[in-house]
Amino acid sequence: YSNEDQSVLKAYEWSNKLFHHVLKHTKDGKDALNYLKNRGFSEEAIEHFQIGYSPRKDQFLSTFLKGKGFEVENLVQYGLLSSRDGNTFFDRFQGRVIFPIHNHQGKIIGYGGRSIQDDIQPKYLNSPESKFFHKGKILYNFHQARRHFQKLNQVVLFEGYADVIKAYQAGVYHAVATMGTSLSDTHVKILKQYVDEVIICFDGDSPGKEASYKSAKLVNDAGMNARVANVPNEMDPDEYFEKHGSEAFQKLIQSAESYVAFSLQYIKKNYNLNTDHDRVQYVEKALDIIATVNQAVERDFYLNELEETFKLDRSTLLQEIDSRRRIMR
Ligand code: UTP
Ligand code: MN
Ligand code: MN
Ligand code: MN
Ligand code: MN
Repeated sequence: YSNEDQSVLKAYEWSNKLFHHVLKHTKDGKDALNYLKNRGFSEEAIEHFQIGYSPRKDQFLSTFLKGKGFEVENLVQYGLLSSRDGNTFFDRFQGRVIFPIHNHQGKIIGYGGRSIQDDIQPKYLNSPESKFFHKGKILYNFHQARRHFQKLNQVVLFEGYADVIKAYQAGVYHAVATMGTSLSDTHVKILKQYVDEVIICFDGDSPGKEASYKSAKLVNDAGMNARVANVPNEMDPDEYFEKHGSEAFQKLIQSAESYVAFSLQYIKKNYNLNTDHDRVQYVEKALDIIATVNQAVERDFYLNELEETFKLDRSTLLQEIDSRRRIMR
């Protein structure tokens, strides 16, 4: 790191110390602390994830950073402060709970700020993209989860900060978040260096399901095992944990189904299976998916289902699989 870079990282570090202190030990942080406790975040987790709060004051952080000798002009591009005119600086994350985002070496390189008041929108404000923070490269909690997923040869992928933190509270330590629903090729490449299996546990709403399908395909195409957890009733993992507790949460993850099983079911919504035309289209697509399975026994298992459901000839199905697998090779 250059001197300037080190100074920016120091500013992030100090700012987080301040936010964390405000949350835990000051009157300004009281509402935020209550908010977190009411949502079921444990004190231990608040500590472990170094969660903080940025009070509703225009010049709280900027005064603090100036006092520490930082050149605050330079910090605007990193989203630590905001400025309208380039001369006066004000706090960017006012009224938000702060989730520090670390790079893979464990240095803070950004924040996720969650509003706890209705008049502060949007719900989440993240740090802007910068030379340190690229959403497409960073996974939330990677630095703490790495040793766990490396050991288990499996990583659990969530959408949000709250999901990862609740997973931690449930004893699921090998968890990271994409901070939204876009899993990138770069994320996949990074994870592939450590694990053979990715369990996708996105939100149970329809954007979450759609993203589960896309992400599982990406992981599968990269030659890893992809599995998808089924979070029921449009809940998200964080809500599921609050409603059903640790044990059920662990089961939810353990019982994630394979990419193939999930997607054969999920894509059915795109077809009207009462018409011959769509039945054929669906079978073609299903064969594409089944052909990606490397174990013959597993392929056989899914072909059985197709054969029975659509009253098809087994040898035709096997031929179709063979020709698809020849092209793939
Ligand atoms: P969600 O909308 O599912 O939020 O977005 P959440 O994590 O369940 O939030 P809570 O539980 O209400 O606090 C999932 C993730 O997408 C990113 C955040 O990282 C969030 O945790 N996100 C979401 C943003 O960056 N900006 C947004 O406006 C919304
Ligand atoms: Mn502390
Ligand atoms: Mn969501
Ligand atoms: Mn969510
Ligand atoms: Mn949530």
